Amino acid sequence: MSRQTHSVRLVSDAREAARILVDEIAELAAKRRGQGRSLVLGLATGGTPIAVYEELVSRVAAGRLDTSDFVAFNLDEYCGLTTADPRSFAQWMRARLFDPLAWPAGRTHIPAGDLGPSARARHCAEYEQAIRDAGGIDLQLLGLGRNGHIGFNEPGSSRDSRTRAVDLAPDTRTDAAAQFSPREVPTQALTMGVATILEARRVRLLAFGAHKRPALTRTLGGPAGPDCPASFLLEHGDVQFFADRDALGSYS
Ligand code: F6R
Repeated sequence: MSRQTHSVRLVSDAREAARILVDEIAELAAKRRGQGRSLVLGLATGGTPIAVYEELVSRVAAGRLDTSDFVAFNLDEYCGLTTADPRSFAQWMRARLFDPLAWPAGRTHIPAGDLGPSARARHCAEYEQAIRDAGGIDLQLLGLGRNGHIGFNEPGSSRDSRTRAVDLAPDTRTDAAAQFSPREVPTQALTMGVATILEARRVRLLAFGAHKRPALTRTLGGPAGPDCPASFLLEHGDVQFFADRDALGSYS
């Protein structure tokens, strides 16, 4: 698939992408309110979306944005961590976004990392159902793994994968290692599936820095395939890729 079929936006940095995205989020929220609905966001953790969360928090603090009715579903969580664990994505999201915006727990959703293996499949099915019950995700925010993962859909994940437990790839565990002592780096996570992500009405992937260039080049160059799960986004009708020059390389 050629790059003309999807939108690639060159941005100077993460802050510029954040301003553009939060403008879009504000516009979409107003549209949803006009329809009597709340905006449903799909959210990611990691370094990439931090500027977006800072922009949301600062606009709300300045009285320029109302997020009080937003609903959120996070992509993923490490297995083996309680929601109180400071290394969990649940705590990360609370610190960066949910607490500063005073979003109540009932409107934020993160897969439960602390379930035993036998309880995971049911929980994942319930997570999918909760997304459907909320009316589906209006806008899904994504980072990009160096190995082409989205959420924790590692290479080998299929186009029709759903929310499930996965084994983390070696690259992903290396990237996670800074937060853990060597023996404690998680080996598994729960993640929304590729099909779950593709059901979001809009998908916005952000990638910054030269270390993302190989995965972004493979993604944008196609074809869609499980060796690079992000490349399945080429099959989405409303996907935009925001990237800086270092990540885009020859695409910029
Ligand atoms: C995080 C997630 C991952 C990250 C990706 C990039 O919830 O789902 O796919 O988006 O690993 O991580 P950063 O942004 O730290 O480079």
